[in-house]
Amino acid sequence: MEELFEQLDFELNPLYEKIIGDLGSNGYSIIDNFFDAYEVEQLRKTLVQKFEEDAFKKAAIGNFVNETIAKSIRGDFILWMDEQELSEAGKLFYSKINDLTTYLNKTCFLGILQKEFHYALYPPGTFYKRHIDTFVNDDRRKLSVVCYLNDESWQKENGGELVLYLQNKEGVEYEKSVLPLPGRMVIFKSQEIEHEVRPVISDKRLSITGWLKTR
Ligand code: OGA
Ligand code: MN
Repeated sequence: MEELFEQLDFELNPLYEKIIGDLGSNGYSIIDNFFDAYEVEQLRKTLVQKFEEDAFKKAAIGNFVNETIAKSIRGDFILWMDEQELSEAGKLFYSKINDLTTYLNKTCFLGILQKEFHYALYPPGTFYKRHIDTFVNDDRRKLSVVCYLNDESWQKENGGELVLYLQNKEGVEYEKSVLPLPGRMVIFKSQEIEHEVRPVISDKRLSITGWLKTR
């Protein structure tokens, strides 16, 4: 097996293989320390700086722009990342994401041709109600990726858990709650997994969220 991969100029990556295995059997994967402490700090600094420069805008839902209704569904502020014009921190982020994407394309024939990512900031009191990440007439989003940039002091008491709604073998729904810990990456099948962000209780909740898409 090893030799076969060598011939194909391909190096097996245990971490990526774990992600692929998890996605196949559960539809999601949670990877701690996908980003190291330095990377998280750089990304957090960049996020906070851009937020203070007022570069963020209130997130909308789909192409829907009614503020009041939108606010009862999601309350985060977002800033889309531009891969052509990245900060140093942004480059660190994309270099890891691109490496993962290349691997997924080589091994899973997913045909990921596009990516879109945004910084997100949830002030205390905000949340994102239960939803799915694909739009009614656009199913290009294949994998949702969320990376948390909070600092190490984030605890359950801060709120803001991601909740994944999953099904057991009998088809009974259960919840998987995930704390937004620094460096943690959650990746899941966009078309299958409903999820929500529980209300943030204290402190701003910081993250990067995005999608790996087919054309
Ligand atoms: C989203 C989303 C989850 C999270 O932005 O669509 O579901 O944990 N984010 O931030
Ligand atoms: Mn979502």
